[in-house]
Amino acid sequence: MRGPRLLTTLLLAALAGAKYIVPGGRWYDTDGNLISAHAGGIVADKESDKFWWFGEYKTESHPEGGGVSVYSSSDLATWEYHGLALAPIEGHEIISPRHIIQRPKVVYSKASNEYHMWWHADNSSYGLLLQGFARSPNISGPYEFVSATAPLGNWSQDFGLFTDRNTGKSYALYSNGDRAEGRDVYISSYNDGVSALDSVVYRFNKFDLEAPTIVQTDRSYYALMSHKTGYRPNNVVAFRADSLEGPWSQPFMVAPPNTRTFNSQSGFTLRIDGTKKTTYLYIGDQWDSNSIWESRYIWLPMTIDDNKRTLQLEWHDVYDLDVKTGEWAPVRGTTYYAASNHARTSGTAFKQEANFASYGTIATGIYGNDSTVTFEGVEGAGEAQPQWVSFYYQNTDDMGFGDQPGGTPDRIGGAWQLRRIASVVVNGDVENVQTLYQRDTHKGVILSTPLLLRLRKGHNNTIAVGGLYNGFDVKGADLDRIVVYPPEREGR
Ligand code: GLA
Repeated sequence: MRGPRLLTTLLLAALAGAKYIVPGGRWYDTDGNLISAHAGGIVADKESDKFWWFGEYKTESHPEGGGVSVYSSSDLATWEYHGLALAPIEGHEIISPRHIIQRPKVVYSKASNEYHMWWHADNSSYGLLLQGFARSPNISGPYEFVSATAPLGNWSQDFGLFTDRNTGKSYALYSNGDRAEGRDVYISSYNDGVSALDSVVYRFNKFDLEAPTIVQTDRSYYALMSHKTGYRPNNVVAFRADSLEGPWSQPFMVAPPNTRTFNSQSGFTLRIDGTKKTTYLYIGDQWDSNSIWESRYIWLPMTIDDNKRTLQLEWHDVYDLDVKTGEWAPVRGTTYYAASNHARTSGTAFKQEANFASYGTIATGIYGNDSTVTFEGVEGAGEAQPQWVSFYYQNTDDMGFGDQPGGTPDRIGGAWQLRRIASVVVNGDVENVQTLYQRDTHKGVILSTPLLLRLRKGHNNTIAVGGLYNGFDVKGADLDRIVVYPPEREGR
């Protein structure tokens, strides 16, 4: 397996100048390992002047029960791993490797002068529905288990934690399970020490939503939540209110319908109070239920208009965020269209009319390694400087294929394929096939997904896209265009 190993080496070398935020990309820590901090939360810690990211730790051999990982960063783009903040304990009644330790959040408690971690604590069948509590004198841990409790006697599944910037008071956010008696989302206030809950502040009654998070502007609170489709994405909604007690507005979608929130689930939001600008980030998960440890992260700026009372996620393939000033800007790339003569098809691949695609044309029939689309004449910056390339595609596995398994979420009893995997070969180098994961979109919905590639300097690069085996066939998704981004700048 020379290919993958070489690929890892190349990616490692690419990490040094990593400064952009690239939603849905493979994100590596400063040791060169995939960042594993799913469904977590980020603490902006004044003392260390760093961001600390806590999340569910999942590896190929331990997709569940891995405990809580912690990473730190000064720029939200370069992350250093600090190990497990909460490690599973063999034989423990709540945090054994066979227990569910999900959606961890950390908050500083003035009263105890310690950091408190809270999470959804459960057994593997979601039969306990408790809130776990652990604490540590250091933000990075290790955290010591304290208790797992039923919040004010209720059930608790997906867990979030919100601290009001005006009052400093913290609140637990939780959905209370799938049973008919549950299906609510609660906002409950903590005591001053953030060591126990005081009272219910608001209940989103019977909306049957989960994965809650609250973002606070100067005038509003917006509560984001997802529908309940397990690890499959859906259209995340938000509610708005002047006060946490409500009244809360009707829910509304936060991303274009049918993109399923750009293939992500809500879970956390981060407000960055820069010297020049306040920026609100959506911190979502792009779950991969076929291999959960490979799940990715969708972090996007949110556009909030308190006059219109709207909140929208803004998709950007690649953006540059300055956490000090709070400013961010999309990075501009060069686009190559499937419709153009510079995109050559082979084998069964062909260009087809598609009124929703660029220039009314999409490339389809991409299959195996002999039915490909090759973009020619692609400009590169040189192999020493890897570049993010976004592939805009349509994956219609939601269409249903009769005798084929799955692929039919829009019919009774249907299930999704979840994703196709395309192969990407640069300049004919078949020893280094890159894997492009293309999640289901929807008919007529084009989304993008990025890869970090090394292109030669000059205008003569080729990027060939074929289909790889992904569990059921060797089809790649339909291609609309690719966008090649400039290499990341060194330093700031
Ligand atoms: C939803 C929840 C996750 C996890 C999965 C399991 O996505 O939000 O936290 O529990 O379901 O299916």
